[in-house]
Amino acid sequence: MTMPRESFGSKLGFIAAASGSAVGLGNLWKFPYITWENNGGAFVLVYLAAALMLGLPIMMAEIFIGRTAKLSGAPAYKKLGGNKWSKLGYLGAAAGGIILSYYMVIAGWSIRSFFQCLNWSFTGYVQPDSKEFGDFLADSRAQILLTLAFTLVNAFIIFLGVGKGIEKATKIMMPVLVLLMLYLVGTALTMPGRDEAFSMIFSLDFKNMKPEGYLEAVGQAFFSLSLGLGAMVAYGSYMKKSDPIISSAAWVVVLDTLFALLSCVAMFTIILSVPELKEHLSGGTVGMLFITLPELFYTKMPGGLILAPLFFVLVAFAALSSTLSLGEVVTSLLIDRKGWKRSKAVMVSTTFIFTGSIFAALSLGGNQFLSKLNFENTPVLKIFFHNKTGVLSLLDHLAANWLLPVGGLGVTIFVGWFLHSDFLLDKLGLKKSTIGFKLWLWSLRVLAPAAIIILIISVALGKDFS
Ligand code: PFF
Repeated sequence: MTMPRESFGSKLGFIAAASGSAVGLGNLWKFPYITWENNGGAFVLVYLAAALMLGLPIMMAEIFIGRTAKLSGAPAYKKLGGNKWSKLGYLGAAAGGIILSYYMVIAGWSIRSFFQCLNWSFTGYVQPDSKEFGDFLADSRAQILLTLAFTLVNAFIIFLGVGKGIEKATKIMMPVLVLLMLYLVGTALTMPGRDEAFSMIFSLDFKNMKPEGYLEAVGQAFFSLSLGLGAMVAYGSYMKKSDPIISSAAWVVVLDTLFALLSCVAMFTIILSVPELKEHLSGGTVGMLFITLPELFYTKMPGGLILAPLFFVLVAFAALSSTLSLGEVVTSLLIDRKGWKRSKAVMVSTTFIFTGSIFAALSLGGNQFLSKLNFENTPVLKIFFHNKTGVLSLLDHLAANWLLPVGGLGVTIFVGWFLHSDFLLDKLGLKKSTIGFKLWLWSLRVLAPAAIIILIISVALGKDFS
C-alpha cells in the first residue's frame, strides 16, 4: 500500500523550509568573503543580476518539476521525461550527499563556538593563542563528535517528516534567524566602520572587480540558492498543487539575497571598524567567522557578551535549516525510488553520509593522508579537483564547481528544451503564454545555459570558484 504523499501545511511552510535551505553558511560566510575579494559594490550588483536572471528561473524550474511530478529527484525526472533523465536526479543526490558530508563538519564547529562563547560570557574572555583553532581542527575526536551531534539532530528532524519535522523546525528557526541577524546588524551599525562599509558594498566600481567576479557570482548564486541538486525539486514535491510557484520562488530569492546583504553589512562594518584587521584578513573567512569575530565581539563590540553566543546560534540555525534540505534530497530519493519507510531511508542515508563526514572531519589535520590528499599530479582528476588539498576542500570544489553547475544546466535543458511549452503552460494553469512565461523560458533556454556553460568551461580550464 502506498502512503499518501506528505505535504507542507501552507505556502508559508514551503517558504520557511526553502528559504531555510537557501540561507546558510553560504550567506554568512562565502558571500561576504567573495564580495570582499572583489572589492564590493560592482560584484554585489552582478550577484543580484545573477540571482534574479538565472537563480530565480532555475528555482522556478526545479519547483515546477517537483510540484508537477509529486516525486523528488530521479523518480521525478523519470516520470516527466523518461528513464534517461533520471540520471540528473542521481547526480543531484550524489551532490547533496557530498555537500552534506563536509557541510556537517563546519556546522559542528558552531556548536563548539557557542559553548566556548557562553563560557567566555560568564567567566570573561581569554584570548586563545594563535594555534588554538588549528589544534581544534586537528583534534579528530572533537571533529567527529561535533559532526555526529549535528548529524543526529538533522536526522531526527528529517525523520519526523516534512510537516512535523522540517516545516515545524524551519518555521521556528527562520524568524529567530531574522531577529538575530537584525540584532547583529543593528549593533554593528553603531560602530565607526559603518559608512566605509556602505560605500564599499553599494558603490559601483567595476574597475576593481576581478574579471572572474562575473562567474563567481553565478557559482555563488547556485550554492546560495540551493540550486542544481534537486533540493527545490524535493521541496516542490511537497507543495500543494494550488501553491503558487512564482511568488514562492521569489520570496526565497529575496530572503536569501537580503540575508547575504545583511551579513555583508555586518561583517564589513565590524572589519572596517578595526583598522588593524583590514590588512591581515586574507586567508579565508573560516578564521573570520570562528576566530576573529568572537574576539571582536568581546573586545570591540557593544553588548558583545550577549551577541557572541547568540551569533553562533545564528550560524547553527542557518546551517541546520540548510542541512535539512540536503538530507531530505537523499532521504526522499530513497523513499520515492525504493518505496522505503522514512525511518529506514533516514537511517541508511545518515549512515552513508556520516561515513563520508568522517573522512572530511579527519582531513583538517587529524589524519595526515586525508589532510594532504590532492590530485594535482593526476591528469584527469586534476580537472575535477583543481589543486585543492585535503578531503574537505576537494569535496567542496567538486560539488560547488562541477556538480551544481552541471545539475543546473541539466535542469535548464530539461525544462527549457525538453518539456513542451504547452505542457508547461498547462501545469502552470496558464491559458496562454504571458510575458513572464516568455522571459522564464528565454532564461532557461538561452541565458542560463550560456552562463553555466561558460562557467563550466572556465572551471575545466582551471578556474576555481569554491
Ligand atoms: N544554500 C546553502 C548555503 O548558502 O549555505 C547551501 C546549500 C544547501 C546548497 C542546500 C545546496 C543545497 F541543496
